[in-house]
Amino acid sequence: MRRPIIAGNWKMNNTIAETKALIADLIPLVKDAACDVVVCTPYTDLAAAVEATRGTNIKVGAENVHWAEKGAFTGEISAKMLVELGVEYVIIGHSERRQYFGETDETVNMRVKAALAAGLKPIICVGETLAERESGKTAEVVTRQTRAAFKDIDKDELDNIVIAYEPVWAIGTGKTATAEDANDTIKVIRDTMAELYCPKCAESRVRIQYGGSMNPKNASELMAMPEIDGGLIGGASLKAEDFSKVVNF
Ligand code: 13P
Repeated sequence: MRRPIIAGNWKMNNTIAETKALIADLIPLVKDAACDVVVCTPYTDLAAAVEATRGTNIKVGAENVHWAEKGAFTGEISAKMLVELGVEYVIIGHSERRQYFGETDETVNMRVKAALAAGLKPIICVGETLAERESGKTAEVVTRQTRAAFKDIDKDELDNIVIAYEPVWAIGTGKTATAEDANDTIKVIRDTMAELYCPKCAESRVRIQYGGSMNPKNASELMAMPEIDGGLIGGASLKAEDFSKVVNF
């Protein structure tokens, strides 16, 4: 009912030459995928990624976007600039942005609005830190982050938005949430969406990925869980073979 979506988040990896090589390797390996396939690349690789994926089933995403249409924001990139390049998705509110670059629930919401207004599809990241998990606050944190991200977002946009649940302690650590824990927290997020919109919308139109040390070994178990609709893949998206194995879970 909900089409799975597997997205790679390359983070600050790959030059243009490496982008072309990785995508060339990836194309034949994922051509028969039963899910949506996305690669999110650094800004400087986007044009090459769009060119390299043209006519294939691989879509391209950015890793962030500014909320303003244009102006005096040195070093920032607008949604319109991404659309002009042929970019379709954009990651918003990744925990690394929240942790190192001052991203807040409020700026996540501003970026989501700007992305949607320009026709981009946001992949909105939520997730608790280790301290929050250990103090029993996981549900509270993801509920707060989800409510804030969707403030004033119309129900009509739900088909254009993906949520990624990424427990911060599982990112790049090799520690994966158990499939059951990931499923339970994603259920909390879906219930929040049901309250914000409607139960049927949350059930049929909201795709929620898991992210955090997802790899060829654990992908099928995670993807078998009823609430998990895909993955946001960091480290394992940097090798064509590993990423294709996740895509073909
Ligand atoms: P890893 O897959 O490297 O843990 O990264 C996950 C992530 O942050 C994807 O956005």
